[in-house]
Parts: sequence; C-alpha cells; structure tokens
Amino acid sequence: MHKLVITGGARLKGEIPVSGAKNAALPILCASLLSAEPLVLENVPALEDVATTLKLLRQMGVAVERDGSTVRLDASRLDNPVAPYDLVKTMRASILVLCPLVARTGRARVSLPGGCAIGARPVDQHIKGLELMGAKVRIEHGDIVAEAGGPEGKLRGARIVTDLVTVTGTENLMMAAVLADGDTVIENAAREPEVVDLAECLIAMGARISGAGTDRLLISGVPTLKGATHRVMPDRIETGTYLTAVAAAGGDVTLTGVRSDTLDAVLQKLGETGAWIEIGADRATIRIVADRRPHAVNIRTAPYPAFPTDMQAQIMALNCIAEGTGVVTETIFENRFMHAQELLRMGASIDIEGNTAVVTGVARLAGAHVMATDLRASASLVIAGLVAEGETVIDRIYHLDRGYDGLEQKLAAVGAQVMRRR
Ligand code: UD1
Repeated sequence: MHKLVITGGARLKGEIPVSGAKNAALPILCASLLSAEPLVLENVPALEDVATTLKLLRQMGVAVERDGSTVRLDASRLDNPVAPYDLVKTMRASILVLCPLVARTGRARVSLPGGCAIGARPVDQHIKGLELMGAKVRIEHGDIVAEAGGPEGKLRGARIVTDLVTVTGTENLMMAAVLADGDTVIENAAREPEVVDLAECLIAMGARISGAGTDRLLISGVPTLKGATHRVMPDRIETGTYLTAVAAAGGDVTLTGVRSDTLDAVLQKLGETGAWIEIGADRATIRIVADRRPHAVNIRTAPYPAFPTDMQAQIMALNCIAEGTGVVTETIFENRFMHAQELLRMGASIDIEGNTAVVTGVARLAGAHVMATDLRASASLVIAGLVAEGETVIDRIYHLDRGYDGLEQKLAAVGAQVMRRR
C-alpha cells in the first residue's frame, strides 16, 4: 500500500492548476444514463472515484471513451440497470445511478451503501423522493430495488420537501424528475455549486429546470434528453485545500482555473487568518509574510453557501499551528473528527466535545507516522505534514487518490518535499 512521505518546513511558491470538481463530475457522469445520445464531458479530473464511476457505467452497458480529461459516454445500449455491491461499497456516490436508471429504464437495482467512516449517511431522502414520484421501492438482499409505477414504466412529477438538505439526494431526485411525466418541485433543495453544474449539463441535454442554486427547484419533465457537451466546473474543495496549505505553510502561490465565486465562506475565513489573497477572473493568489503564524479561526460547517464540511479538516490542521484558539463545529456529519486523533500524534492541542473541537495553536508540530481515515482527513494530514518539523509518513493514501488529482505532483511543483513510497 502506498504512503506519502512529507518533509515539512518548505515555503510554497509557484502555480497550481486546479482540476475539475469531483463532486460535480460524479453526478454528471451518471447523467449520461438519462439519454440514448452521447454526452461529452470536459475537465473531468483523474481520480479513483471517477474511475469507479466509469467502471460502474461500463458494466451497465455504457460505452466510455476517455482522452485525457475528456470523457465521451454513450448509453444508447444501456442494458443492465444494476449497481453491484463490490463497486458501491468503495464509493457511496454510486447511489447517483439510482434515479437516472429508474427515470430512463423504469427500474434499477442498486446495492445499499453501507455505513461510512464519517457517519451513518443514510439514503432515505433519495428513496422517499422516488416513492413520491410513484416508484415502488423495496430492500432485497441488501439492494435497493426500484420500479417506476406509472404506465410504460414512467415516473410522475411530484412535490418533494426533503427533511434535510442533501446534496446527492437533490441531484438524484433532479435526475429522476427530468424524464418524469409532469412537473416536480423539490423544496429544501441543496444549493451547492455542483448541483447547479449538474442542472446546467441537464439543461444542455434538453431538460427543463429552473431554480438551480436556490432551495426550490422546478423541473418540467420531457419525454427524452439529447446528447450534449459540458465542461465540469473547477473543484472548489481542491482550491480551498491548496489555499489553506499555503496559509499554513507560508509562501506565494497562484491557483489557476478556479471559480472563486464558489468559495466565499472559505476565502473569508482564510482572510481572517491574516492571509493576503488576490482574486482574478479565473485565478487566486495567496501570499503569506515569511515567519508569520496564521491567526486561529472559528468555523461552523453547514450547507452551501456556509462553510463546507469538506474543508473542515484542512482548517483544523491550520488552527493546530495558528496563534490563538479556534473552535471548529461540525454540523453535517456526526463522526468527522477522526483526523484530530492523528493531529494529536503530531503534537497538536485539540479538545473534542460532541460536534465541537477546540484547537489551541502550538508553535510547531512534529512529523510522525499517521493514518489517513477519509478523503478530507487525509488532506488535513498533508497540510500538517507540510508545516511539521521533520518527516511525516501518511499511510492509507488511497483516500487521497479518490479525490485529489495529482496531489503530490502539484505540491512538489510549488516546492513542497512530498514523495510517494510503497
Ligand atoms: C455530498 C458530497 C460530500 C459532502 C456532503 C456535504 C458528493 C459526491 N459528496 O455528500 O463530499 O461532504 O455532500 O456537503 O457530492 N442524509 C440523510 N438522509 C439522506 C441523505 C443525507 O439523513 O437520504 C444526511 C447525511 O447523513 C448527512 C447530511 O444529510 O448528515 C448531508 O448529507 P448529504 O448532503 O446527502 O451528503 P452526500 O450527498 O452524501
């Protein structure tokens, strides 16, 4: 199994190109199931989760061609609307095939995603919405088996109020509604930019959707969708991760190909740490005065546009070496502080009570052997490794490969001492 070895202390200087967004690419790849005409996607990041999704789509009968960051998907011969356990268990986002399959073929069998390291993460809202659209859904041998109830196996438009704000739930139900008979309203919809990116792709395919980016989506079903070409939006979490790395380690780095309008909450917090940030049309430059520790910041995660839970671990790592005390409150997932145990091994001072972590900055962390527990936790350990004295060895970095495109190459290009080792 691969490990990442980081020697801390280097200031970072140069440019980092940002890749396409994982959380936009995954639902948009699944949207290819909705049409018998080809969907061409540009700016698709090279990630394990993307590879898993392509594998999943291929075994359903989708023809996939990949040329660098461009992926062409042809679901004209979709013949196996099944997502098996061995693929679903490695990636919860596999649930995103459920609604497109039912919408297009009238049926689906998708293995129920199990528990996950960062909390229970049920999919009850996805199922509830499908049922409101007339589907019959049952759990059989660990699989979700869904059949569209209407004539000719079609879903029907419905009014859906989700019990909580769910990102993939909103995306799944939007994909169910685009081919349903009649109008669907989704209230309490997620407003994440990735939901908007999916809506834009679906609209390019001929879907009728309004309200994307608000908490009320209105979707008028159409009989079929056509092919389209769509460019996946830049990854705001990857952008935020590198900005936070520089805010913690120091340096002068420009990120290119970014969408800073999707990063308001993160940019504001990084500003509070004392970082100097300049925003351009599609770039962001961060500059940190030499030998100056960042100020600790308080964050509270919540659905977009508030501070993203996917940036919580990285900011916690920054707080570990900041001046002062930062309070980190996690409101989305109940078990998302696993990185704290590893940061403690590097000399951090963190007190956790329930969903709150109080982080008191120390002058320096010490390199140590640590274990990645989930994707963003891994990113926080990378940031800690970059600022620590000596060598940090991060085990189980397959988590990083799921969500960061070329992380060690990008960091090495700005002067970090990072290396992959068996
Ligand atoms: C997505 C993102 C993930 C991010 C998360 C929150 C993708 C592929 N993943 O995950 O990176 O951390 O949004 O921004 O886009 N819930 C239920 N029932 C449901 C659905 C969700 O109780 O049917 C709960 C979850 O357990 C969690 C909360 O709702 O506590 C939010 O989860 P959700 O927004 O659905 O997260 P994901 O879509 O899985």
